[in-house]
Amino acid sequence: MTRTIQPISSIHGTLRLPGDKSISHRYAMLAALAEGPTVIRNYSTGADCASTLGCLRGLGVAIEHSGACVTVEGVGLTGLQVPSGALDAGNSGSTIRMLSGILAGQSFKTTIGGDESLSRRPMHRIITPLAEMGARIEARDGGVPPLTIQGKALRPLSYDLPVPSAQVKTAVLFAGLFAEGQTSVREPLATRNHSEIALREFGATVAVDGPEVRVQGRPRLRGLELQVPGDLSSSSFFLAAGLLLPGSDLTMEGVGLNPTRTALLEVLHDMGADVEVLTSNAEYGEPVGDLRVRGRTGAGPVLEGGVIQGETTAGVIDEIPILAVLGAASRQGLEIRDAAELRVKESDRIATVAENLKRMGVRVEVRDDGMAIPGRQAFQPAEVDSFGDHRIAMAFTIAALAAQGPCQINAAEAASVSFPEFYQLLESVPRS
Ligand code: S3P
Repeated sequence: MTRTIQPISSIHGTLRLPGDKSISHRYAMLAALAEGPTVIRNYSTGADCASTLGCLRGLGVAIEHSGACVTVEGVGLTGLQVPSGALDAGNSGSTIRMLSGILAGQSFKTTIGGDESLSRRPMHRIITPLAEMGARIEARDGGVPPLTIQGKALRPLSYDLPVPSAQVKTAVLFAGLFAEGQTSVREPLATRNHSEIALREFGATVAVDGPEVRVQGRPRLRGLELQVPGDLSSSSFFLAAGLLLPGSDLTMEGVGLNPTRTALLEVLHDMGADVEVLTSNAEYGEPVGDLRVRGRTGAGPVLEGGVIQGETTAGVIDEIPILAVLGAASRQGLEIRDAAELRVKESDRIATVAENLKRMGVRVEVRDDGMAIPGRQAFQPAEVDSFGDHRIAMAFTIAALAAQGPCQINAAEAASVSFPEFYQLLESVPRS
């Protein structure tokens, strides 16, 4: 579906965002392995997290889903059942990679696949450690889905992650639940630690020692009542709108502020953005708070620009498309380095970001592992594309709000993979 986006001057008000996608997946999977019911409030409304619920149902787990409240009837560590057909992870890399850790520990064989984009994404990164633990996993040529996973009685593993990936870390830790003894993962750079926090909440024994995480196998997990914080990655689009549109003043309540996710706020701060954390507390081990963004009031670019590289790139990997948009409007421009992972996301995000920027008349230099975007550029009215990627749809909708005329976003419905309410919420926010 093509959406026409009219430019606006500013946005104001207060809003709440749907639940965090990363946390929702983990809560649902652990709830399925727990004993007794788990109630998850503010569960992500995105299609990706619905794919996780669909796969768990396929494994015999009873789930009630009403709006953003999900009740999962946990079956215990050994209660999953042989699915009657292949499991469908849709567009969701998190679903296929993290669930594979659980499937590796079953006494049966499962096939799990997904849509065209997921069928191009690399799975060697989970196949290698899960095979070392004893599972037999077949993939298509090139190590891409669908995967056929013959579960086994797993051996514990001590694994050094070759790529910093929270999905891979989680796959190994979840597989470790089924192994007798202790499984450990060492990460080269710190990645989001929602699994470690959620495992503890559900009753597993988890130790974190610098870059190493250890989980004790064969725990008894117990059902819980939980609330998912608002999605910080989804907030990035509203933060960017607030920064790009002069005079904006927007508050987002109840946003997840886990320090392994807040590199975005540090990058924005370094770029000179006025983004404030108003309050914060912890819910179920996850820091949560309110965020306020204010756009500039005087003339000239609102942000400084700079370089994003190394550990910072890993920390903002999901936010690079919207940061690239902000970079074009910044004073010095933005250089993004060490971001080769972007090439294997829901789309090749280096190519798709650059293509849309160019269509909007923005100069960009594309590199193998990143891009450089000169500053002080305006967004021209253009027809851009989501390329089927939710974060590209939303990032370029925000660029369109700040453009010099109306823009078209093709296949804008891709936003619903993580944020189905995006357009409705954007239209409901008071604007001028
Ligand atoms: C995620 C980890 C990241 C991120 C993805 C969600 C997670 O992927 O890009 O959107 O929930 O663990 P990688 O683990 O591939 O870095």
